[in-house]
Amino acid sequence: MTTIENDLRDAIRTIPDYPKPGIMFRDITTLLGNARAFRRTVDELVQPWAGSKVDKVAGIEARGFILGGAVAHQVSAGFVPIRKKGKLPHTTVRVAYSLEYGIDEMEMHEDAVTKGERVVLVDDLIATGGTAEGAVKLLKQMGADIVAACFIVDLPELGGAEKIRKLGVPVRTLVSFDGH
Ligand code: PRP
Ligand code: MG
Repeated sequence: MTTIENDLRDAIRTIPDYPKPGIMFRDITTLLGNARAFRRTVDELVQPWAGSKVDKVAGIEARGFILGGAVAHQVSAGFVPIRKKGKLPHTTVRVAYSLEYGIDEMEMHEDAVTKGERVVLVDDLIATGGTAEGAVKLLKQMGADIVAACFIVDLPELGGAEKIRKLGVPVRTLVSFDGH
């Protein structure tokens, strides 16, 4: 395990039995509130693309917005919000995605990404991968060239990162937690 992984892990707070018994909630607000940890997180996430061209960073509502804006600034890219349905004012493309219990829908503006643009997808955490899979589908529908999907936290037991890699999208995560 790298030093940075340990440092970032220490900056993340775990809340047992939230939002329901048996769930270990990985709370990144403590990392975001720690100036050094937040900067290191952003620097580390973008490290593989330092110096290469990224056109857009797509962040997934809500926690992916916090990180995505910072990442976009760091790589001098535009930012694209992928939102829960009904929030975006212009014409959208929409996809259903699976949650732990049930399904929901997410959207992005139809003109937010143009064909062939190099896009990095960002969210705070990947668990089952249902959310990220929905975002990948939307971006592919727009003809985006998805450079990678990046997350601070991976819960590998839930298989999400593997699911996204199987879609042909490289996945970058910084901290893994066993148990969920
Ligand atoms: C959480 C997290 C990821 C998603 C991961 O978001 O921020 O977006 O779940 O889960 P998955 O890999 O199993 O799909 P949540 O929907 O709780 O909402 P929020 O970001 O708006 O707080
Ligand atoms: Mg989320």
